[in-house]
Amino acid sequence: VAPLKVGIAGLGTVGAEVVRLIETQARVLTGRSGRGIRVVAVTARSKAKKRDVDLRGVEWAKDPMALATHPEVDCFVELMGGAGDPALSAVETALNAGKSVVTANKALLAKHGLKLAKAAEKHGGALNFEAAVGAAIPVIKTLREGLAGTGINRVYGILNGTCNYILTRMEQEGLSFAECLKDAQRLGYAEADPSFDVDGHDTAQKLAILASLAFGTKVAQSAVYVEGISSIAPEDLRAAADLGYRVKLLGVAVRTAKGIEQRVHPTMVPKSSSIAQVMGVTNAVTIDGEGIPPITLVGPGAGGAATASAVVADIADVARGIRANPFGRPIAQLHDTKKAPMERH
Ligand code: HSE
Repeated sequence: VAPLKVGIAGLGTVGAEVVRLIETQARVLTGRSGRGIRVVAVTARSKAKKRDVDLRGVEWAKDPMALATHPEVDCFVELMGGAGDPALSAVETALNAGKSVVTANKALLAKHGLKLAKAAEKHGGALNFEAAVGAAIPVIKTLREGLAGTGINRVYGILNGTCNYILTRMEQEGLSFAECLKDAQRLGYAEADPSFDVDGHDTAQKLAILASLAFGTKVAQSAVYVEGISSIAPEDLRAAADLGYRVKLLGVAVRTAKGIEQRVHPTMVPKSSSIAQVMGVTNAVTIDGEGIPPITLVGPGAGGAATASAVVADIADVARGIRANPFGRPIAQLHDTKKAPMERH
């Protein structure tokens, strides 16, 4: 069988790690996929940057669009980030050409996910985005495949590693918000514009994606109420601690009498609760399903290696020929975001 030919747009920490994993895990990946996976072309802002990854024999495409339309590329891997261009038009073009797309870009999905899923549905390519939420934690697959037979009443959790890292260090070491944020940036957890993290938008984007998978709503960041953590000071955390609480930035999507509610805000959680034990860059997602006790997934929510692990798993699915409905069901069956019905489906 011919190998799956992959093109990667964006060679930052995640992109470089994806190239490395495809090489070092080649045997396992081939075993699981029944065929090889080969990176045939890449593109990145700087060709000259030192990357510590072997790109011999790999073609450099002149820009993301050239990669998306590259005749050799079967699977376009978008790791540039950003809700607009060049990511948007490159992904759309690849899907319209019938190629499969793997992306870690939650901003793009939260804003244009529906349109992109339509393109995938129409032209037959896969649109996989496990890395967009919770990095290495397989939460997309859990909702889309693992819990496909279960009605879901609530999904909530800590979805931003940067914020949880900041809150943890502020509480444990009494450091200022600014100092902790600087460290989160240095460690490669934060977004290029870290206000997306601290103002709660990154959490909102991820929540919108999870809500769509859990409740069949049309993915939309605009449906999420958002409040971030930038006005929280170490004294606030101390005051909460005196009362037996910890502050966490939570994203919550829940079925209510009025439809599906989606919100992101700092929340006081009892110190004895399991969510209060989630510290540092770790993410945690709890899923309350109909008739079963809650399921919680916990793991690294940010960072190059954790994100790359999910990207490579998505590429392996494409190689195996698995093509899920991106948001768990055909587009025609998705509901309006604010009017998701009360009946289980
Ligand atoms: N900036 C994000 C975070 C990266 O801190 O969680 C992973 O999506």
